[in-house]
Amino acid sequence: MNLLVVGASGFLGAEVCRQAVAAGHRVVGTYHSAAVAVPGVAPCRLDVTDRVAVRALLTEVRPDAVVATPYRYDDWAVTADGAAHIASAAAEVGARLVHLSSDALHAGRPTPYLDDDVPTPLHPYGAAKAAAETAVRAVDPGAVLVRTSLIVGEGSKQIQLCRDALAGRAVLFTDEARCPVHVTDLAAAVLELVPTDLAGPLNVAGPDAVSRAELGLLVARHDGLDPAGLKTATIAEAGVHRPAEVRLDSSRAAGLLRARLRGVTEVLA
Ligand SMILES: NC(=O)c1ccc[n+]([C@@H]2O[C@H](COP(=O)([O-])OP(=O)(O)OC[C@H]3O[C@@H](n4cnc5c(N)ncnc54)[C@H](OP(=O)(O)O)[C@@H]3O)[C@@H](O)[C@H]2O)c1
Repeated sequence: MNLLVVGASGFLGAEVCRQAVAAGHRVVGTYHSAAVAVPGVAPCRLDVTDRVAVRALLTEVRPDAVVATPYRYDDWAVTADGAAHIASAAAEVGARLVHLSSDALHAGRPTPYLDDDVPTPLHPYGAAKAAAETAVRAVDPGAVLVRTSLIVGEGSKQIQLCRDALAGRAVLFTDEARCPVHVTDLAAAVLELVPTDLAGPLNVAGPDAVSRAELGLLVARHDGLDPAGLKTATIAEAGVHRPAEVRLDSSRAAGLLRARLRGVTEVLA
């Protein structure tokens, strides 16, 4: 299979590339400001905010499938418009699209979110991810939208945040619950979705819901660090506006896919 991974220089994109190359696929991987560090991947610079460039690349590569991971937390043009550009170009060349979405499009509530719960974004990043989904679904109704949560594993910025909080350089919220997933499990799930015709939103996250502060304690235990230094607060104490409890119910994905989505307590045991 000819696979195009958009965002191959990113954390998840690189792991998708590694597993795809290992499985014998021909992989073209894009980068924007960093480099593609995965052997066997044909690297290609792409700015997804440039609609013409996205279309030109897909027309040239003619992939069978596209895995779309790019985002910038505070950049609507990358996160929302970029996703729309990729979807439109993928539809034009008839490529299967796996689009990476996020639990950040939910406002937070005590009960878990199901696959097809509609977005209720609280902040601009969540709104951009919601807009990306709407654009992708409109342009390419056959695309699958992988809604995931904190991506952990070596090199994860979520794990780095925990280490920073353990060193007193950052704060972890005690009331911000998420369902972390390991990058290798998520990448395997993403690749497994490529040859299917599954369409629309699908939650793909780990089964364990933990608060950011609990994740920090798991990292402390895993790394052999003193948990006493962990800096924590509640969302209200920090005076920020962000979703508190966002638990993704990934039971449908867990039942459909061979890839095992391990809980974070197992991952960081
Ligand atoms: N990380 C998490 O915990 C988490 C949680 C939920 C959902 N997600 C979703 O999962 C996906 C992957 O996340 P990640 O953590 O792997 O992201 P990441 O490591 O930050 O990688 C982001 C990728 O986007 C690329 N990119 C940024 N601006 C671009 C532009 N203008 N044109 C083209 N590419 C551009 C980056 O390229 P350069 O680095 O080369 O600039 C990089 O390859 C995202 O869609 C994110 O919303 C992530």
